[in-house]
Amino acid sequence: MENFTFFNPTKIEFGTGKEQLIGQILAGHGIKNVLLCYGSDRIKRDGLFATVSNSLNERGVRYVECGGIVSNPVLSKVREAIALARTHQVDAVLSVGGGSVLDSSKAIAAGALYAGDVWDLFIGKGRIEAALPVFDILTLAATGSEMNNGAVVTNEQTKEKFAISSVHTFPKVSIVNPALMQTVPRDYLVYSAADIIAHAIEGYFTATEQPRFHSRMVEAIINTVIETTETLLENPQDYHARAEFAWASTQALNGLIYAGTAGFSYPNHMIEHSLSALFNVPHGAGLSVVIPAWMKWYHNRNPQQFQRFAQHVFGVDTAEQGIAALEAWFDKIGTPTRLSQLGIREADLPKTIENILGNAQWFGIAEIYTRDVVTAILNHARQ
Ligand code: NZQ
Ligand code: ZN
Repeated sequence: MENFTFFNPTKIEFGTGKEQLIGQILAGHGIKNVLLCYGSDRIKRDGLFATVSNSLNERGVRYVECGGIVSNPVLSKVREAIALARTHQVDAVLSVGGGSVLDSSKAIAAGALYAGDVWDLFIGKGRIEAALPVFDILTLAATGSEMNNGAVVTNEQTKEKFAISSVHTFPKVSIVNPALMQTVPRDYLVYSAADIIAHAIEGYFTATEQPRFHSRMVEAIINTVIETTETLLENPQDYHARAEFAWASTQALNGLIYAGTAGFSYPNHMIEHSLSALFNVPHGAGLSVVIPAWMKWYHNRNPQQFQRFAQHVFGVDTAEQGIAALEAWFDKIGTPTRLSQLGIREADLPKTIENILGNAQWFGIAEIYTRDVVTAILNHARQ
């Protein structure tokens, strides 16, 4: 195992009814005026907004609303919200929603305290020296954003989907109530399953140092996701399945399964972020197309680990059978496995490849992911 520093300052409040604590939690942190970020008016229709607003009112925490954050969140909205945060001099950001609202909230929190344009922070032109404290009530489990310091935003002008991360952008407190996730639509449930699996396997397959304990944690996450997704497809109200799915999701990208590993990269995310940036496909739907294609191209580079995956996750013998089993499972639960299912046509491929090559630079793996390699991977996702 490699030397490592593991640091994760986020406090998790997990379980039913925890969202009622939000006023108390903010007041306890000395917050008086918060930017309340959310997506659609869904949270107004289902009562969550009223719960949050009552809880804030009870503790004398004022709020300024910032609704309308879309899935695959965009830079223009982040800029607009930063202006709002400054005008109202908020002292924290509260996210109520999924990863898109939370990622935007982190970018808003960092951008509000940065003198230049927030996009500088995404392209390395500026550094995050401080951020407003971020709190969240998570309504969809997939990204792990509730316990990590990453935030992914698309610049609609340049079609770049890039990320920030810094010690200042971990949420202070994340409220994870699986019962709030019971309304997640079927399609987002299966996309989320693909996203969690992606977070678990990127390091598992690419790390040059991958201890067995870490491999076992990854396999536990994936086995749990497979089991609970199947349960939830049959019964979306199953609280215990929802809870295990949510906690597995948090564990997949909070740093735990990566601490002590080395040499890993995120090629599936590198490719997928281009699909989302160009065609606005849901992140997990893009990943379920990319993962089997990437695996078919990559597996000979790490045959033992692919055989391990086949045996420990699907109970089959060979690397090829393991890849086929994962692809078949994606097909079975109804998340796409072909570019055409995402509405991406042959004519779209050149600009897609160009965008991926830009991402490869950003991810620092351009030497491996050349034009020929990216073309070969996408070929596996064609028909
Ligand atoms: O606008 P609302 O009403 O919130 O609708 C959302 C949205 O339409 C809906 N939804 C969320 N909770 C719901 C619900 N609908 C009914 N009931 C509920 N309880 O679901 C839709 C998708 O939400 P979104 O937040 O976009 O999904 P997700 O959490 O998967 O976030 C995706 C974004 O996170 C980024 C992705 O690239 C993408 O932009 N990622 C962030 C990461 C991170 N911060 O660490 C890592 C990931 O790899 C990923 O890149
Ligand atoms: Zn992801």
